[in-house]
Amino acid sequence: MIPELSKPSVFMRDPQRVHEILQSMMKAGSNTVQVISDFDMTLTRFAYNGKRCPTCHNILDDSKLISEDCKIQLKELLNTYYPIEIDSSRSVEEKLPLMVEWWTKAHELLVQQKIRKDLLAVVVQESEAMLREGYQLFFDHLHEHSIPLLIFSAGIGDILEEVINQAGVFHSNVKVFSNYMDFDESGVLKAFKGELIHIYNKREGALLNTGHFQELRTRPNVLLMGDSLGDLTMADGVQDMENILKIGFLNDKVEERKQSYLDSYDIVLVKDETLEVPNAVLFYLT
Ligand code: TMP
Ligand code: MG
Repeated sequence: MIPELSKPSVFMRDPQRVHEILQSMMKAGSNTVQVISDFDMTLTRFAYNGKRCPTCHNILDDSKLISEDCKIQLKELLNTYYPIEIDSSRSVEEKLPLMVEWWTKAHELLVQQKIRKDLLAVVVQESEAMLREGYQLFFDHLHEHSIPLLIFSAGIGDILEEVINQAGVFHSNVKVFSNYMDFDESGVLKAFKGELIHIYNKREGALLNTGHFQELRTRPNVLLMGDSLGDLTMADGVQDMENILKIGFLNDKVEERKQSYLDSYDIVLVKDETLEVPNAVLFYLT
């Protein structure tokens, strides 16, 4: 049905079920479809030429806006908490308070740095941020077919927007839920706005945004894309859902985590740095 699903990076628990969902969504028509995607390590690359690519937070952490001393502290946080994020031997219940701790400490450090809003664009320009191969086609195709794309990120909204803006793909069909910076009247970071979004409370974030999902109530067919098991709840706010196809990128600790990804995502993409499969699915649906 979709040749790209035979790529060696593609794993499915139940290929027949995937075909059924796809067929059902295709029959319903692309005007009933919405896409909900995570950002870091889902729309952006995990690695390039063997080197890790930055998350939104890393873009800022590694920039000239952060003092050397603060960089060391942020790196220590990353080295402490990232292994916990991807540890398959710990439960979500056990990880959740630790993830809140990570985000809270990181944001406190960033606020101390007196970051200037007008320098964010330069920092993104100078960074090694990289969207996955095929991103142009992905964003442009969704735009051409007027399919809404919600980017739901526990990263930093201001940075994320700058990345897609500089890539020329921040089209009118894109909406972002994320952590946004709050600047004082002179344009210096003073806090983060609203409720914190971390990797394990996307369900709560989705339920807070009922207005968005109400607007999209004629689109009960969802394509969900993520790289963390926490991303699976991003569609919990969708009203009267009919079909959901979940595509998961498994980037790291593949052997330990493969079974849990196969159990929860319909299509698992192992160490696949491209958007070829999501693009093929979108072409099939439109
Ligand atoms: P996402 O929801 O867009 O994937 O963003 C969450 C990612 O951000 C998650 O994989 C962890 C990462 N992160 C950092 O790299 N540095 C940080 O300081 C924090 C708090 C999160
Ligand atoms: Mg992610």
